[in-house]
Amino acid sequence: MCGIVGYVGNRDCSEVLVSALRKLEYRGYDSAGIAVFESGKINIKKAQGRLDDLEDKMKYEGKPCGNVGIGHTRWATHGVPSEINSHPHRGGDKVTIVHNGIIENYKELKEMLIKNGRTFVSETDTEVVAQLLDFNYDGDPVGALRKTLSQVEGSFALGVLFADREGEIYAVRRESPLIVGVAEGESFIASDVPAIIQYTKKYYLLEHDEIAHLTSDGVSFCDLNGKHISKELKVADWSQDAAEKGGYDHYMIKEIHEQPTSVKTTVTPRISDGMPSLDECGITVDYLKKVKQIHIVACGTAMHAGMVGKYIIEKLAKVPVIVDIASEFRYREPLIHKDDLVIIISQSGETADSLAAMRLAKSMGAKTLAIVNAKGSSIAREADMLIYTHAGPEIAVASTKAYMVQISVMYLLCFELAFAKGYITDGECCRLTDALCEIPALIDDTIDTTNDLCHEIAEKLIDADSLLYIGRGLDYALSMEGSLKLKEISYIHSEAYAAGELKHGTISLITEGMPVIAVATQTSLYDKTVSNIKEVKARGAMVILVCDEKAEVGADVADHIIRVPKTLEMLMPMTAIVPLQLLAYYTSVLRGNDVDKPRNLAKSVTVE
Ligand code: M6R
Repeated sequence: MCGIVGYVGNRDCSEVLVSALRKLEYRGYDSAGIAVFESGKINIKKAQGRLDDLEDKMKYEGKPCGNVGIGHTRWATHGVPSEINSHPHRGGDKVTIVHNGIIENYKELKEMLIKNGRTFVSETDTEVVAQLLDFNYDGDPVGALRKTLSQVEGSFALGVLFADREGEIYAVRRESPLIVGVAEGESFIASDVPAIIQYTKKYYLLEHDEIAHLTSDGVSFCDLNGKHISKELKVADWSQDAAEKGGYDHYMIKEIHEQPTSVKTTVTPRISDGMPSLDECGITVDYLKKVKQIHIVACGTAMHAGMVGKYIIEKLAKVPVIVDIASEFRYREPLIHKDDLVIIISQSGETADSLAAMRLAKSMGAKTLAIVNAKGSSIAREADMLIYTHAGPEIAVASTKAYMVQISVMYLLCFELAFAKGYITDGECCRLTDALCEIPALIDDTIDTTNDLCHEIAEKLIDADSLLYIGRGLDYALSMEGSLKLKEISYIHSEAYAAGELKHGTISLITEGMPVIAVATQTSLYDKTVSNIKEVKARGAMVILVCDEKAEVGADVADHIIRVPKTLEMLMPMTAIVPLQLLAYYTSVLRGNDVDKPRNLAKSVTVE
């Protein structure tokens, strides 16, 4: 998704903007641009491609010189990726803006503006906002923003320069995230905290329809009526290191290695006297006793974490769980009852479909529980109950450590729910919780013991046209995540299939040498999965088996075996996911792909 930054102060603004945008690269983008006040005029530089392309262009043409400006990385929605469509956009002589989000009624607004003599150079919805703001501007920025915001529909975060107000930035948001950073003699806007953390840890969260006014002397906030608002200053608890690569080649591999710590930091504070304790998050045993049905709603990897939740909760706590893709849930008229618990899982806490699904569930009277990594994000703020995962910033587009902490929370919740419902005793609950606490060390072992092997096996995958991931039960849930990981960063087609379902159609795809990654870590299902593996092997598949270290594997079952440390059967996803992440990572590296910023993808999907 698009990234926004802005700077007012005494530094070289072009440099600040580009370095801040680099920290937002994880959001995904296809073009970049900046606009800086220079000798009373606004100088814009934009380029299609990466920030390096923008920097090359500025080396050649000269960079804007000044101390106040706005910058943007664009992830195309309206109009192809091109220099002309990239931001910042001018709206005439008076206004220059950067925008993240989607203007739903841009066509109507564009027609109105054209009738009023305006002409457009780009295909974007953003230029419509720029033109409208310019059209409404008569020297009063707040008045123009108020009028414009009453006319536009959709989601947006805007950074605005008014040509006659050198030294000032205005910012406003509706739905799309925006923060305002402050330091001595300078202030910033950004779509996310990592963009500014090299300059300041202090920031304000801009709320829906609030306007921020930034100068080098400080920032002030008002509502759409111009009424002053006082806001709480927040201090980021991320170190700059945490938002950088720390010696690894890619963020993704760094984040894979951070998983043991992330799990520890997420789980440990939620244990009291050996039992899971989620009281501080608003979840009590008394409340859990009353829960009759659970819906887990999320997108992508977060939804796959929900699938793990479904298998374990239904098995141990005997509460029915429906897992939904958020974009389906919000439009399929789901049956939600007052006693239902709706769990929204999201790393970013800003995923548009997940946020809308949560709002829908609330409007239907259900209690909502958010499991979110990004502090202060929209989903975190609007949920009735909240469990923060403590993975720290996840920069790589392909989610790894966020998934790991999401499933950790699923386990905590499942154990507490099973105890609340009386299906396990406190002794059993403590034993399960102890086993969960041992997981970080096992993840560490798994990384050590499977890394090189995954690298070797990846060499055999790089030329494949298509792969299958198969498994049963929790292994099937894991296969879905393994398959998504591989396809999103290697660009090799893959599908996850319930192993027992293969012979109902998909087995016809198997040809000589086709890689099949079989996950068989569930002891109770092991023999059944092995039968399915033999079926594909008999048809020429190259089988890569992921199983536990003690599994007895017949000589004719697999071409390659990846063994992971054994733990309780239900906790096996926490070790078994690691080689699936590593296989995807190395396949992507070996194919020469941009591992952390795969094509067409964005880290935080803030549009529908
Ligand atoms: O921020 P969220 O967890 O809500 O994001 C959901 C998905 O967009 C995300 O998990 C996506 O599938 C990842 N790229 C997967 O690696």
